[in-house]
Amino acid sequence: MTTKNKQIVLSGIQPTGELHIGNYLGSLKNFIELQDKYQCYFFLATYHSITENYNPKEKHKQVLDLAATYLAAKLDPKKCIIFDQADVPACTELAWIFNSITPINELERMTQYKDKAARQIKNINTGLFDYPVLQAADILLYHANFVPVGADQLQHLELTNEIVRWFTNKFGEYFQPIKPLLTKMPKVMSLIEPDKKMSKSLGPSHYIAINDEPDIILAKLKKAVTGMGTEEQIPAGAQNLMTLLSEFGTKEDVVYFENQIKNKTIKYFELKEKLAKNISDYFADYRAKYKELQDKPDYIEKVLKQGAKEAQKVAQKTIKEVKELIGVA
Ligand code: TRP
Repeated sequence: MTTKNKQIVLSGIQPTGELHIGNYLGSLKNFIELQDKYQCYFFLATYHSITENYNPKEKHKQVLDLAATYLAAKLDPKKCIIFDQADVPACTELAWIFNSITPINELERMTQYKDKAARQIKNINTGLFDYPVLQAADILLYHANFVPVGADQLQHLELTNEIVRWFTNKFGEYFQPIKPLLTKMPKVMSLIEPDKKMSKSLGPSHYIAINDEPDIILAKLKKAVTGMGTEEQIPAGAQNLMTLLSEFGTKEDVVYFENQIKNKTIKYFELKEKLAKNISDYFADYRAKYKELQDKPDYIEKVLKQGAKEAQKVAQKTIKEVKELIGVA
């Protein structure tokens, strides 16, 4: 199959600091598998990330760090197009055009917006509100067929397809509806408050970063809560560790500890040590490669520049055609 006939996959991650293992399982892990089968665009959602509170002095480093993470996790710039959204101005142009066909009340329904607005009451900016429209532009600019995401992004992908419909009604057929590639992602919970999703905003003791060194991983797991829940049910914290074990361990590991839990002979320190070793080993190559890339910012910049060049070729064609369709060219 030539590149030309391959279907197009596109996804992005916001550069906001290190990824935790929940982020990894929900996105990056799948990107790596997809790059061999499809024409893939994997970008850094920099313009999305500035809708949250951030320090301008840190942003560029976060962009380089995320790009290094992509590369260290074995996304291959020869196989897929890796670029920074902010390097493709056609994206914000298309978002503006989509703004003019998107009813405000559709954006008011978005649950991620409502959640984030509640978290940053002092910074409910228009970009935060308009975030899903920029996301639709990301996707449609490159005529993506499939978008791998976690379930929390489904509403945004539905909106993208609504935008396709509104665009078609007003300007004629041009964009095609997209399909989510739903990541079969386990629910990874906080180590300390296992009733909440693992999240960086809860603080470092709540999550394991894919960059964490083995001693840190073990220390964090040692502090993980296991004893919440009722008699009949496995405690939520223990369940979470078992979920992680099923991702990062062998079937035998899982069966071994499952039986112990059933028989109530479980020693949680044993489970935690096993899990710490498995997670450390799993990311050992990644950590080595990531460290190597820390000394090569020029290489990372080069990859992003080359990616942007390739992305722009497609983006400029799309924006030109769209401008003609909507009567502004
Ligand atoms: N909103 C996505 C997230 O937070 C990131 C993102 C931005 C994205 N644009 C995208 C994902 C386009 C898929 C396609 O995870």
